[in-house]
Amino acid sequence: MASTGLSEMRTRRIICFVLPLSMILLLLYLSTNKLHVQVSECLENGRPCVEAQIDIIIHPKKNVNTDRPSDAKEDENILENALRNCQRDGFQIGKMLMSFRSCVTETGEILVGEYLNAWRELIKFMDSMGTVFIFISSETRTKINILQDYLRGKNGKSYRTISSMVQYELENEVVNFKELPPNRVPSGCRTLLRMHRALKWLEDFLYKVGTSPKEQKTSELCAESYHKTLAHHHSWFIRQVAEIAFLALPSLEEMYEVVCVKDHKEAEVVLLTTVEAIAKVYNITQEIYTNHNMLDLP
Ligand SMILES: *[C@@H]1O[C@H](CO)[C@@H](O)[C@H](O)[C@H]1NC(C)=O
Repeated sequence: MASTGLSEMRTRRIICFVLPLSMILLLLYLSTNKLHVQVSECLENGRPCVEAQIDIIIHPKKNVNTDRPSDAKEDENILENALRNCQRDGFQIGKMLMSFRSCVTETGEILVGEYLNAWRELIKFMDSMGTVFIFISSETRTKINILQDYLRGKNGKSYRTISSMVQYELENEVVNFKELPPNRVPSGCRTLLRMHRALKWLEDFLYKVGTSPKEQKTSELCAESYHKTLAHHHSWFIRQVAEIAFLALPSLEEMYEVVCVKDHKEAEVVLLTTVEAIAKVYNITQEIYTNHNMLDLP
């Protein structure tokens, strides 16, 4: 009895060790294919290219900004230059900034369709850092598809904004507060909550990328953000894989290339502007979920 128990334990310990290790080696292998740049294109999904919309980002209300403090003007110039000179394809920070801004309506509602678009840009961001985030980005793709199906479905109108979705799903008892039913498509509320949690992590990480000195290790920044936000929602196994996957992150200087900036100063302006747009979307969503006691949906 005792020796079977012992060898069982030994086997289990080996599995615990070998499985994460082999996943990590796979991730490291895959991440050598990172940072590949493709040819530029000007229309994506029928939307105009970044170049044409930069004006809208920099000067949202053209006639208002006559008397600006000079450092605000300087920041504007930095933002404008960084976005205009961003020739890389795949992920473009300007597109992501725009997509987060267009999530919020004038009355402060979040449009679900635009939210999904913004997430598609975030996935491009994660993918452009190699395969480090593959465990998050593939899960997020599934979640985008679930919500997109609700949006295209026969009750699609009720899914136009986050608050209309919450109202519709609560009234129709789609949301399950006790458990996740195994054989049903998860509710929109539950699905979006997962993305919402991951958004906080990326918001925090982007903030750190924008404000940390360039000697700082990205793996440490990312792990810090992860511990602060997403880690307590993950299982032990995923946490181990995440920890080690972060070690394969590109350096801060390589990240600057991904977000189309040359130096720390530019990084700060571009990333803090982006983080603010993300935080706005995050805060509104957080308020809706708090008001309906839905922050812990299973
Ligand atoms: C979001 O909420 C946090 C915490 O309440 C606050 O510090 C921050 O200024 C808010 N950001 C935006 C853009 O609303």
